[in-house]
Amino acid sequence: MERILIEGGKPLEGEVRVHGAKNAALPILAASVMAAGESTIQDVPNLQDIDVMKQILTALGAKFSQSGSTVTADASAIITTDIPDELMRKMRSSIFLMGPLLARFGSVRVSKPGGCSIGTRGIDLHVKGLQQLGAEIKESHGYITCSSKKLQGTSIYLDLPSVGATENLMMAASLAEGTTVIGNAAREPEIADLARYLNRMGAKISGAGEDTIYVEGVAQLHATEHQIIPDRIVAGTLLIATAITHGCVTVTNVNPDHLGVVLTKLRETGVEFRMDHDIQLNNNRIEVRALNRLQALDRIQTTYYPGFPTDLQAPIMALLSVAKGTSVISEGVFEERMHHVSELRRMGAKIKLDHRTAFVEGVEELSGAVVEATDLRAGAALVIAGLAATGTTCVDNIHHIDRGYEQIENLLASLGASVKRIWM
Ligand code: EPZ
Repeated sequence: MERILIEGGKPLEGEVRVHGAKNAALPILAASVMAAGESTIQDVPNLQDIDVMKQILTALGAKFSQSGSTVTADASAIITTDIPDELMRKMRSSIFLMGPLLARFGSVRVSKPGGCSIGTRGIDLHVKGLQQLGAEIKESHGYITCSSKKLQGTSIYLDLPSVGATENLMMAASLAEGTTVIGNAAREPEIADLARYLNRMGAKISGAGEDTIYVEGVAQLHATEHQIIPDRIVAGTLLIATAITHGCVTVTNVNPDHLGVVLTKLRETGVEFRMDHDIQLNNNRIEVRALNRLQALDRIQTTYYPGFPTDLQAPIMALLSVAKGTSVISEGVFEERMHHVSELRRMGAKIKLDHRTAFVEGVEELSGAVVEATDLRAGAALVIAGLAATGTTCVDNIHHIDRGYEQIENLLASLGASVKRIWM
């Protein structure tokens, strides 16, 4: 069992580069099966979820090579569109393969995806949208089988601005006959990044990043190359970790435009930022520091982009656990994304929970404890709390954290934190 041990109380200082976005790399790797030939994708993060996606694609017949963070994917010889059960269960993002495989090969078989225990995480919007595009969907014995001679463009309205459904349907529509309009589309930056990759493959997509996306179907796509955008959630996690330790850190390879409301909310607590934001030179840096005790926030409501991201709800709760005053945090996206509350309480946090709303009464300091990561971002929140806690914190089940952060212990140790991974 791997664990992370943290000796709290060290301010984070120095400079750190953010790796490529997990939630852009996953759908982009899935999209690489839509064309024969070699796609070269740069700044692919070295994460467990990425490994699982590569295992799935390899099982389908794709070939991979990698040099550093540059992945070359060749989908010339796909031999099956049935995704192996054991791999489907490992990761929800395996559902991203429905659209691409159906669009290029006319068939796909998946089983109920796995993923974090943060809610029902239905796939009804994915299935309904593919049906509207003309796919025939059969569900039996836990499998969903989709087939279609040729998808037909149509107008789709998503009842929820689902990131995954928007991405799946955008990919499927790229090779459909005619034009597809996706209304109430999710607006996350990762969707615009996927659209940029698809357009470089020859797709004709406009409006990605807005709430209505237009896709003019084309007959065929070709392999291409692409650079993944920075991971805004990892960036936000590093800003919060610096703030809770009263440190001063420069974060590079970050796009401040993707962190708008996060920066605004952190400023309200008293965190200070200095930004060199020259997107042309792709030289984006944010210097963050928080030398004094931070102030509580009246309200944080997580919602769809560009609102406050649900993926930073647990990390900012760790920060507000030691702020001055009481903060109110409401989770507006997932039904069960508060498992970290009981673990933070073990460290001395004073948090009352009413369904999806947490009332966080800031304490002077947290105490190190043995805690358990229950999902990816909850795990990150516990590491953040450990950085500020008095004494030693031991975080269990860190495989959750490895799904979204490249060796988080090295990332933080490079900034002066006393953090190490142990095997027990
Ligand atoms: C993506 O998940 C991200 N994962 C999540 O990041 C992120 O939290 C989430 O979007 C919201 O921003 C990836 O991109 C790989 P949704 P996704 O479909 O696509 C409901 C992380 O920590 N819903 O936008 O699964 C669903 O239950 C992960 O990196 C349906 O009801 O999220 C949820 O309540 C966690 N039916 C809400 O919509 C559907 O068919 C938003 O889910 C689809 C979704």
